Amino acid sequence: MKIIDVGLGKRSYPIMVAAGLLSEIGRDLRQRAVAKRYVVIADDRVAGLYGKTLIESLASQGISCELLVFPRGEASKNMTTIARLASSLAQLGVDRKDCLIALGGGVTGDITGFVAAIYMRGIAFVQVPTTLLAQVDSSVGGKTGVDIPEGKNLVGAFYQPRAVYIDSRVLSSLPSEELLNGLAEVIKYGVIYDRDFFDFLDANREQILQLQLPVIEEVIGRCCQIKAAVVAADEKEADLRRILNYGHTLGHAVEAASDFAIAHGMAVAMGMVAANSLAQGKALLSPPEAERISQVIAGFGLPVAIPRELDHNLMKSFLKTDKKAVSGKPFFVLPTRIGQVTITDDVAAELIDQVLGGR
Ligand SMILES: NC(=O)c1ccc[n+]([C@@H]2O[C@H](COP(=O)([O-])OP(=O)(O)OC[C@H]3O[C@@H](n4cnc5c(N)ncnc54)[C@H](O)[C@@H]3O)[C@@H](O)[C@H]2O)c1
Repeated sequence: MKIIDVGLGKRSYPIMVAAGLLSEIGRDLRQRAVAKRYVVIADDRVAGLYGKTLIESLASQGISCELLVFPRGEASKNMTTIARLASSLAQLGVDRKDCLIALGGGVTGDITGFVAAIYMRGIAFVQVPTTLLAQVDSSVGGKTGVDIPEGKNLVGAFYQPRAVYIDSRVLSSLPSEELLNGLAEVIKYGVIYDRDFFDFLDANREQILQLQLPVIEEVIGRCCQIKAAVVAADEKEADLRRILNYGHTLGHAVEAASDFAIAHGMAVAMGMVAANSLAQGKALLSPPEAERISQVIAGFGLPVAIPRELDHNLMKSFLKTDKKAVSGKPFFVLPTRIGQVTITDDVAAELIDQVLGGR
């Protein structure tokens, strides 16, 4: 088993990565004595696939637990779901000594973490991420929250879990598009932080796409190490944590302009290549480095070009209203070489226009 520590002083927590870990969670929670009673929160698909194994693992250790289920998908990530879950917890008599378990993808993790942050002003929770995206990204770092009609993730809290349990085996049931969503984030880590890891991804593409052990665990572990290091240095995204947004500023604009028809991972892949074009336009990144990143992204089956039919004025307006933009000025994370990036809001409007396909 790989164990990675997220170093946040008294709020530090372990990320554990192992094949088959789902059935070991009960034993580990009993040893850690996080709580006497647990409530598992899962969407309807993941509850059906993995709820039983997790509940049996807790039951085998004499730990009682309940299961609360909500409908799968981003559409559930809203205040109505939060209110419903909080009411269910109150009806079950859940109190501050109890603990929630987020079993599922990023939607489940964000919802469960936010309920945990606000129910009775905060109760413990642990993450059991089941999508690649959740395993390498959303389950680590303590960002929780929901969407409101005015925008995605606009309501939330920084609230860290007590532990993260990653079972690489659950990825075998993941639809291929969901796998690609996670792979875009995986490639991102190589570009922003770790050239050796980028080379590793390039050299092991087939094993990764086939989810072969131990390669896939190496990938998950390395991503978690990078995210843990970045979060430990800058928990609330004042500075370094912003590098995790590589490909996301332009990617969000693409996603929104397509009315979310383009999946997040695809949009991030296009956003990374577009950010590289900005970096080249500013003479920050050499053409061979940019070309190599594009080749690796394409090699994993991810798109590298923003579809021409997307309205580029609409994308520009989404860039201005990006929630991370300051006074309507977006910032961009631009690679200077593979493994290193710089953050800047100093990008000429004409260059952005050109990269988004405007004429
Ligand atoms: N908190 C953060 O730091 C952070 C970071 C990145 C993304 N996010 C959020 O994460 C969300 C996206 O997460 P996601 O892509 O995991 O989406 P998701 O949670 O909706 O999961 C995607 C789909 O996969 C299914 N699924 C999950 N695990 C499965 C498995 N093992 N086998 C089969 N099906 C499975 C789910 O039922 C769902 O239908 C977004 O809301 C995004 O805002 C949060």
